[in-house]
Amino acid sequence: MGKRIGILLSGRGSNFEAIAGNIRNGMLDAEIAVVISNREAAPGLATARALGLNAVCHPSKGIEREALDAQLVATLRQHDVDLVILAGYMRLLSPVFIRAFPQRILNIHPSLLPAFPGLDAQHQAFEYGAKISGCTVHFVDEQLDHGPIVRQAAVPVLAGDTAETLSARILAEEHKVYSEAIGIVLSGRYRIEGRRVLVEEN
Ligand code: GAR
Repeated sequence: MGKRIGILLSGRGSNFEAIAGNIRNGMLDAEIAVVISNREAAPGLATARALGLNAVCHPSKGIEREALDAQLVATLRQHDVDLVILAGYMRLLSPVFIRAFPQRILNIHPSLLPAFPGLDAQHQAFEYGAKISGCTVHFVDEQLDHGPIVRQAAVPVLAGDTAETLSARILAEEHKVYSEAIGIVLSGRYRIEGRRVLVEEN
């Protein structure tokens, strides 16, 4: 049995679906222990249920961040999760959460960090006139879109692009690199020196 991952999402859930697909096709050795959403209406939550996975909603509306995060930590611990995967989870995590899983939380962000942190990164890159954008998988620390980088993929901005066509090509890369990064971290074939994640090639 593969190691146990817990997935947090807020919306569409296409990164979660790509991860689930890569587990199914044998590219990624892992088991999805639980999928958690902060929005009951998140399509990704419905997908998780349709796939027969443990799917839990902890609504973020009307609850303080620390209280919500304590619920998330409890659910992740209950499902004995080795690694937490943020897959379009659009809430900031409090230190309570981050300290509960030290260097055991990954996030994917749709830009080449440290460029364009925050919301709507693809639009930010497009409007800025960047010629190359992409996506970044990184460990989560207490600063937004900041921790050590595990994997990045570059995506050129083409002359005929709109923010939407660029986003779609970035998303296709996200669906590949996230599973690769999860595989690296679950295998333990890496070490972190300062900000640098050094991967032992096999
Ligand atoms: C993805 O593009 C992901 O990189 C981005 O949200 C989208 C979620 O799509 N995440 C962030 O912007 C986090 N700052 P999905 O729900 O289809 O996986």
